[in-house]
Parts: sequence; structure tokens; C-alpha cells
Amino acid sequence: MIKFDEKRRVFNLSNDSFSYIFHINKLNYLIHLYAGAKLNDFGIERMNERYIERYAYLENGKEVCDESYYFSEQGSLFECASNLKGDKRGAFAIIRHKDGSRITNFKYFSHKIIKGKESPVGLPHFRIKNNSEAETLVVTLKDEFDEIYLDLFYTLFSSKDALVRFSRLRNKTGSSIFIEKLSSLQLDRVNSNYDLVSSHGQWGDDRELEVTQIGHSKICVNDNHGGRGFRQNPSILIKERDANYDYGEVMAFSLVYSGNFKFEIGLDEYDQLRVLALINDESFDYEVKNGENFDAPECLMVYSNKGINRVTQQMHDIIRDNLLPQQFAFKERPILINSWEPFMFDFDTEKIKKLILDAKELGIEEVVLDDGWFGDRKDDKRALGDWFINSNKINLKEVVDFAHNQNMKFGLWIEPEMISPDSELFRKKPNFALANPNKKPTLLRHQLVLDLANDKIVEDTFKQFCEIFDQIPFDYVKWDFNRYLTDIYSNFLGSEKEGEVFHRFMLGSYKLLDMFTKRYPNILLETCASGGGRFDLGMMYYSSQIWGSDETNPLSRVMIQFATNVFYPLSTIGAHVSAANSLTIQDKIITSAFGTFGYELNPSKLTKDEKEKIKTFNKLIKEHHHVVTCGDYYVLNSPYLTNYASWMCVTKDKKEALVFNFVFKREQTKGRFLKLKGLKPDANYFNSLTNDVYKGDFYMKVGLNLSAPLTDGMTMLFVLKEVNPLVKTIANKKAEQAKREKLL
Ligand code: GLA
Repeated sequence: MIKFDEKRRVFNLSNDSFSYIFHINKLNYLIHLYAGAKLNDFGIERMNERYIERYAYLENGKEVCDESYYFSEQGSLFECASNLKGDKRGAFAIIRHKDGSRITNFKYFSHKIIKGKESPVGLPHFRIKNNSEAETLVVTLKDEFDEIYLDLFYTLFSSKDALVRFSRLRNKTGSSIFIEKLSSLQLDRVNSNYDLVSSHGQWGDDRELEVTQIGHSKICVNDNHGGRGFRQNPSILIKERDANYDYGEVMAFSLVYSGNFKFEIGLDEYDQLRVLALINDESFDYEVKNGENFDAPECLMVYSNKGINRVTQQMHDIIRDNLLPQQFAFKERPILINSWEPFMFDFDTEKIKKLILDAKELGIEEVVLDDGWFGDRKDDKRALGDWFINSNKINLKEVVDFAHNQNMKFGLWIEPEMISPDSELFRKKPNFALANPNKKPTLLRHQLVLDLANDKIVEDTFKQFCEIFDQIPFDYVKWDFNRYLTDIYSNFLGSEKEGEVFHRFMLGSYKLLDMFTKRYPNILLETCASGGGRFDLGMMYYSSQIWGSDETNPLSRVMIQFATNVFYPLSTIGAHVSAANSLTIQDKIITSAFGTFGYELNPSKLTKDEKEKIKTFNKLIKEHHHVVTCGDYYVLNSPYLTNYASWMCVTKDKKEALVFNFVFKREQTKGRFLKLKGLKPDANYFNSLTNDVYKGDFYMKVGLNLSAPLTDGMTMLFVLKEVNPLVKTIANKKAEQAKREKLL
């Protein structure tokens, strides 16, 4: 898949449908040529010419300029832009050299092509099952002035239109150097008609899509909260301006990182696009000692020339196949009920046992005990860090055994990265918190953040959890993270290294997650950050699902899920039905059915009718969960453009589909047909709207007829199932008869 043409010095990374091509020019710069649908034939000269001033430089006191050769530092497309040279579009890396200079000019040094993949050390990454799944090109660049090496990693997957990239900086200068900025990916591209699709949000409104025209002012999609960064999400799309869900060129970029990140996006003066993906360089200053390396996180790039839906499907596929913990990625997830909304901190052994029995009766399979089971945690003002069971309040072993005897699973809430000032831990070890002792630290939700930049604190925290999880066989953990980082100061690192705290904290968090998931591989992990405040590929390496949002009202929830679905598989989005006073239980269930499903309510407060609905839908969801967990996702109607949010999931074999339609505004008498996608045109499908059978072609060209009066907040779920032609005749006859009887 990856070839090097020695004569033309061209790297061609191509599988059956995707090509990424660049070359080493005369001056040993890596020049980007192409990224897109598979290219079989090309001429470098025709792709590379820019009618911009020729490049001249001074050598031994003489001006050197090759008049016959088009190359411009200002306008060429690079794989790795220099710093403080002629390219002013944004440096790939800014490195403070030992003489204080930041001039860095990386040029080709060597390369190797390997079967399989290499991954950044200590960071989450895409995984492969065997070496035939992917090939990796490692191009080593060397700084023109110093013994600093930069390895650029490009992993191409055989069956995906995707590249995974990261970079590794190696210092051989003999003394320390300091990284002020280091990108994971750079993509330069001719043409200017692009829009950016990013997502932003806040608590309770976790993700919303935003389209921005990419112009000549640089756009930064970024976050600096150090985790729990609702503000912007580290996944973006760049699409041709006229591309839509089913048409046109679209590229997705997603960082495998949960800390501060940044995408720099903009056009240069020649109308060419540059995209850089990196750890946010704000408050980032990282020492790399002589002989040491620094790895930037991976960045995924996915390409489609068939619109957003295709990019989304490819993202979902590669995340499920190559990132999520594989023991859970395609597995049916138990329907759970969480104690938080029904009980908050007010529970005991008997209440939880009753919850187990009530839940079982409704067809729920797992109970999760949320916050409040440890230390003196009677409210959210105290005890984070005191990870020992409050046995005066609850006998956890008894409760878990009880659940297991009832054939139910049991899970537990934890928030390992935090410390409350009112805790035994803080009283003993105040310097375990991130805070400068001479400056009053900001409290958020009454808590501080543990200094996980310090390995010892990571180890100590892990040990506390082992004492509990070694003793009690939990099936699930909700790993929360309820505040963002302020007072970025470690009491252990030393004054020279305070610019490393953000990233070292992230490395510590990942280490803790890594140790936990390795020791307890059968525990299903769901991460959470005040809802979906840390929703990214970094977390998904450890947790196969992330709590989507604390907002459970379908009206808002649909928008959050719609935005999240663009980038992340539906099975990763924790989506629960709550008692929140909005719409009916059925509407709430249908919305949550398109995520990892569960409840946050007190079953004993449900009406008889609600209980019956829950039982019926639980069965339906179990029967069809694989369509959502493993299928292909299609947007049918965008709520940003229409009065509906409509989408569908289709199994890979196209035999089954689930269709979702949400109505935002009441419609009395309009004619409405919902055209479906992704079905086999010639196959016969039974549909649960009219209970009869038509060909896929009919559903895709004419659609489901929804022309009845529609009320606002109306939530619809339809099942489509392939059936044989005989069933078609019988079903249609029955449906006809039923219709006639109704009319009579
Ligand atoms: C966060 C979560 C909630 C719940 C509480 C517990 O807010 O989003 O679901 O777990 O913490 O304190």
C-alpha cells in the first residue's frame, strides 16, 4: 500500500479507494501533492507548480537561485512547515534551541516503511489486530541547524479511507531543548472553497454543530480546560462549500487526546488551505533532555468524496474496529439504571436492593450506584480522594452479591482524578492537589484536581481503588471528571517544568486509566465529565462508552446526539431516560435507544402504563441493539435545515434498519415523505409504520409517508426488516385489510 518511487522521490500511500501523496523536493523539503480519492496516474510537475517568486538563499556569501525550478517557502504545500523561515502560515513545531533561537527547518533525512503500526508512547492510540491491516511510513526529518530529529508517522489502513498520524521529536543536541509547539498533523491543500464544521457546547448543552466559512483569518478550534472541555470538541470536518450529507468532498480530523488541543485552520495569501492539529500551545513549554523523545498524540484523518454520511460511517468504523476496547466494541451493552437522579446522595443498602428488584422487573439488566458511597461523602462538598467504602451507609459487597444472585449486573461511580479540600487525603497531603501554595486556588464544585503529573500520586490513587475492586466483582464503572483544571502548578515538578503540567496531567490520567483497565479488563468502563465534557478519541481507547449529557430532555438531547453522531459511533454515547418533566416516557425511550441505553429514575414512582411501555421497549431495544451498535449511520434530515431530526442505522448486511424521526414544530396538514438511505434496492423490507412490505428502492425513492398531523416533540421509531417475497404478499394484504376496516 505504501510505495516509494526512488526516481521521483515520491511517497504514495494508496489503498483501493484513497491516496495520500507527497515527495521530497530538490531542497529536501517534504512537499504535499495530493490527498483524496484513489489516484492512479499523476505528474508531479503539474501538481507542484506555483507561480510564486523562486526561492533564493545565501550560501558562502553568494545568492543561490535555480531559475528553472518552482519552489517558494511562502506558497509551497508542505508536510511540515518550518519556523521563522519564509513560511508564515503557522509552524508545525516551535522549538527553543539551546542558544535561545527558535529557527527550525526540518528537511528529509531518511525513511522506512513498516508492516503494521507504531504508536505514541504513553498515549491512547489506534490498535491493529494483525500487521496485514495497516502499513506505516516513518519519515525522519532533521533540523538544518541542530541535531534534532522529527519522525512523521503515517499509518494507512487497508480497508479504510483514513490515515492515522503522529510525530516524535528526538533530541540529540547534547543539551536540553524546549518544545513550545508540536503538531501531530499538517495538511496543506490547494483550493479555497471550504467550510469548517466544528462542535461546541457547555454543561447540559454538550455539543452543537457550527459551520464556519474558512477564509484568510486563521480559525482556531481549541480548548484549554485540561479535560472537561465542553467549549470545543477535538473532532472537526472540513468540507467543500457545496458538499452535503451525500455529496462532495469532506475530511474529518480527530485528535486522540483528551487534554488541551488546537486545530489551526486558514487560507494563505494564495488561497491555499493549511490545517494543523496539535496539543494546544497555550501554557505549553516542554523540556526534552538530550537523548529523550517527545511524542505528540495521534490524529485521525478520514476522507470521503461522497459527503458527510460517508465520512461519518468511516469514522464510526475505524473507532469501533481499531480504537474502542475490543472486548466491548461490538457487544450488547446491558440496559442499566443509575441511582443518581432517583436518590442523589440519599441511599442505603435496602434502597439499592429494592432498586435492583424493581429494575429487574422492568427488564433492566444492571444497577449503577452513583456518587456518595465512599468516605464522608454526604454531599458534593467533601471526601473526593477518600476512596474507602462508607460501611455505615452501604454494604457494597452485600449489594453486589445480591444483584448477582438476581442475575443482574452491578456498577459503581468513581471520580479518581479529584480531591476535596474537606477530605482525609487533603488534610494529610495538601500538596497532592494542583495549586500554587502562595496563590488562592479556584474551587469548582467544591473540589480541586489531583496532581497526576506526579507518578507517585497516580500509583497511590490506583492502590486505593485496587483495595475495593480486588474484593468486590463489579461489572461496570462510571469514571467521572467534574471540574476542569485551574491553578496549573505542580508542587513536585520544579520551576523549570511548570509548562509541562497540563500534558503531564493527561499522561498521568491515561496511566491511571491504563492500569485500571488492564487489571480489570472485564469491567465495562463509561467515562463522564459533568455529562459529555470529555468526549473524545483519547477516552474511547479506554472506555467503550461516554455519558453523552446530563440533559435528558429529548428536545435538547436530540440536538446533542445529532452533533455527537457526526463523529462518534452511537454505541459510545451514554443515553438515558430520566424522570425529567418533558415529553412522554415513550419519546424519551426512543431518543435514548440510539445510544447506550439506560434509565435515571425511580421505578417505584412510575405509573402502571409507563412500566408496561418500559418493558415493551426494553425487549425491542434488546432485539435491535446490534443495528445501532454495529450498523451504518445515515442522516436523513438535519435539524439545522428542516423541522426534523431524522436518521437511520442499517446493519452491514443491509437486512435490518432502525429509523428515527423527531418533530420540532407542530405540522397539521403538510405532505411529508421520509426518504430512507442505505437499503438494498431490490430487497423486500417489512416496515413497522404501515406494517407492509415494499422494495428498498421504493423506500429510498418515495419514502415513508408521514403526512399525518405531527405534533411538536413527536418522536418516531420505525423498524425495517428484509423479508422474502411471499411474506410481502401476505403482509400487504393484511395491511390493506386493516386499513379498509379502519376506513369502514
Ligand atoms: C456528574 C455526573 C452525574 C453524576 C454526578 C455525581 O454531574 O454528570 O451524572 O454522576 O456527577 O456527583
